[in-house]
Amino acid sequence: MAKLEILEFPDPRLRLNAQTVEVFDAALKRLADDMLETMYAAPGIGLAATQVNEQKRLLVTDVSEGRDAPLVLVNPELLETSGTEMCQEGCLSFPGVYADVERKEWVRVKAQDVTGKSFELETGGLLAVCIQHEMDHLVGKVFVDYLSPLKRSLLLRKLEKQRRHAG
Ligand code: NI
Repeated sequence: MAKLEILEFPDPRLRLNAQTVEVFDAALKRLADDMLETMYAAPGIGLAATQVNEQKRLLVTDVSEGRDAPLVLVNPELLETSGTEMCQEGCLSFPGVYADVERKEWVRVKAQDVTGKSFELETGGLLAVCIQHEMDHLVGKVFVDYLSPLKRSLLLRKLEKQRRHAG
């Protein structure tokens, strides 16, 4: 396994649209494994292929306390949602900044695993929020897109400040 480079905002490649995965081969399995390793090392609770410059409809997540429940979703689709909630979100492409975003409270998702096998998942809470956040990445959308212009500019200024401090 290998750690991958995570693209950081405002990298224009974060705006690319991912393609449907049609080939379920060893390379796809390796990419999913590398994305999990990258996510755990960051550390983060979710990562979309777009963030590692792979335009594939693939995301990984693990919201468990023990960091031992990896979930890989290939070609995820939202089938059904209900309710809304505000949740504070962060993103590995925006290190050190957080903002409240409104998401669906509960989701039913259809996806495939790395071998191409289809499955459905119903979930709420943090996992539901995380899946919606990562699915946005696959269509070139990032969480700050939901903020008002004022909130967005405050957050991006903070991001710049964090970057200067970090490096
Ligand atoms: Ni993100």
